[in-house]
Amino acid sequence: MDNSIEERKADHIEICLEEDVQARRATTGFEDVSLVHKALPEISREKIDLSTTVFGYKFSAPLFVGAMTGGTTKATKLNAAIAEAVEELNLGMGVGSQRVAIDNPKLERSFTVVREKAPTAFIVANIGGPQLVGKYGVKEAKKAVEMVQANALAIHLNALQEAVQPEGDTNYSNLLQKICKVAQELDVPVIVKETGAGIAAEDAAMLEAAGVAGIDVAGVGGTSWAAVEYYRAKARQDVFSQRLGETFWDWGLPTAVSLVETVKSVNLPVIASGGIRNGIDVTKALALGASLASATYPFLGPATAGSEDVKNALRYLVGEVRNAMFLVGANSIQKLQKVPVVLTGKTSEWLKLRGFQPEVYARRKA
Ligand SMILES: Cc1cc2nc3c(=O)[nH]c(=O)nc-3n(C[C@H](O)[C@H](O)[C@H](O)COP(=O)(O)O)c2cc1C
Repeated sequence: MDNSIEERKADHIEICLEEDVQARRATTGFEDVSLVHKALPEISREKIDLSTTVFGYKFSAPLFVGAMTGGTTKATKLNAAIAEAVEELNLGMGVGSQRVAIDNPKLERSFTVVREKAPTAFIVANIGGPQLVGKYGVKEAKKAVEMVQANALAIHLNALQEAVQPEGDTNYSNLLQKICKVAQELDVPVIVKETGAGIAAEDAAMLEAAGVAGIDVAGVGGTSWAAVEYYRAKARQDVFSQRLGETFWDWGLPTAVSLVETVKSVNLPVIASGGIRNGIDVTKALALGASLASATYPFLGPATAGSEDVKNALRYLVGEVRNAMFLVGANSIQKLQKVPVVLTGKTSEWLKLRGFQPEVYARRKA
């Protein structure tokens, strides 16, 4: 049994709870994204339909709780709290990397609790890209899905985190081929997700060609895995890794940039995540073409307190999305995806230089 992976997972949760692990200089780019306020919304706020069907599942609102945890006793409690909340609200959640339990079935409980507490919610299983480069294949991917009777499987890409930790798996050779094989063989949709450094247009197009069913961009602006590794290195007085974590703290594509690059390059559902912190962020992401938005870190504290707190955190977000949709005059998610959006500043500059046309969003007519 590899205790070190469990210890690492426990460290991640403690560091995220106790230290500031959010991006410092980098931002999501949503500050450069403006929705056009409608003084005449011409709709009733209470009649707005927030529901949306993605990956064959009807979400009561376009939201889910991102992949976070599993493998420890504490993780069992956190996963149970999140699962209870998303079940009651008809939303969804991702579990954390299931590697620990695939390698050591005694730890399965921290994951199976999710389907127990959430018999009908949208549940996303999770394995790591580097494990697919290594010894994992279709068998392990299927095992992850079966363990939580998942609606979808997420394969996470975390090259940044692997590159700033001494025990990191930095061999990403031929991963795309492995992803392609898993996408072909599984009978649930395979989503590829980043973990806070974003996905650029070129990679998004390669993933679509490989047959994935969805992409979760998880860009810069929220939780920084370089930051988490910085604190781990500091605790063990590893000066080199500490410096690496600090240098790469804000590395990656801002979420708004990554979202537009991906939406404009593929014909797949795209999930916006990485620094999504309130309902206006969610609404902007949907208006830019995301099918769903997801946040992770904002639910860690509430999950520690219990399912009521997770429910409240989700209700706040949903209420804010409803308000923002009212103020742009969109009474459905489909309408929201057509409202004008003005992109300015660095985000607009970047998108222009990369050949995307941010002005097209500004001139849309709902
Ligand atoms: C404590 C914690 C643990 C995480 N563990 C995983 C994981 O096991 N697998 C994964 O795909 N992403 C994992 N993530 C990354 C998130 O799913 C998400 O991509 C990232 O945190 C950015 O979103 P945020 O800014 O809303 O936190 C984790 C995030 C946090 C905060």
